[in-house]
Amino acid sequence: MDLLDIARRAREFAVADYSNFKVGAALLADDGRVFTGCNVENATYGLTVCAERVALFKALSEGARRFTQIAVVADTEGPTPPCGACRQLLWEFGGDLEVILGNLSSETGRHRLRDLFPLPFDARLLS
Ligand code: THU
Repeated sequence: MDLLDIARRAREFAVADYSNFKVGAALLADDGRVFTGCNVENATYGLTVCAERVALFKALSEGARRFTQIAVVADTEGPTPPCGACRQLLWEFGGDLEVILGNLSSETGRHRLRDLFPLPFDARLLS
């Protein structure tokens, strides 16, 4: 199963009762493990966590630290790219990984994170 298909399967678990916008993500670590995520919403709205960050936090909590690709899937005709907060955290922990976007049937885009997140603030600027 390719990474987009894994993200499609993860999307089925989305907790998106407020927006009805279900998202799935699949994050590939450099050791070959794949970590999945779906968006998780709640009654405060503001505490919602995107599918990408759920996948990333699951991965970090299981010891993965380096990543090469992330697939993101939503039921949209065009691409659903990661939000700004997710770009920041993916950059921090994933570096210039490949972002593969898709809908329920096909791939809708493929980007390097550095192109989606130019001029980042990161640890290098703290030294
Ligand atoms: N969402 C994601 O999970 N990932 C994205 O890349 C875009 C947005 C979620 C957050 C919220 O639950 C819903 O989609 C609508 O914004």
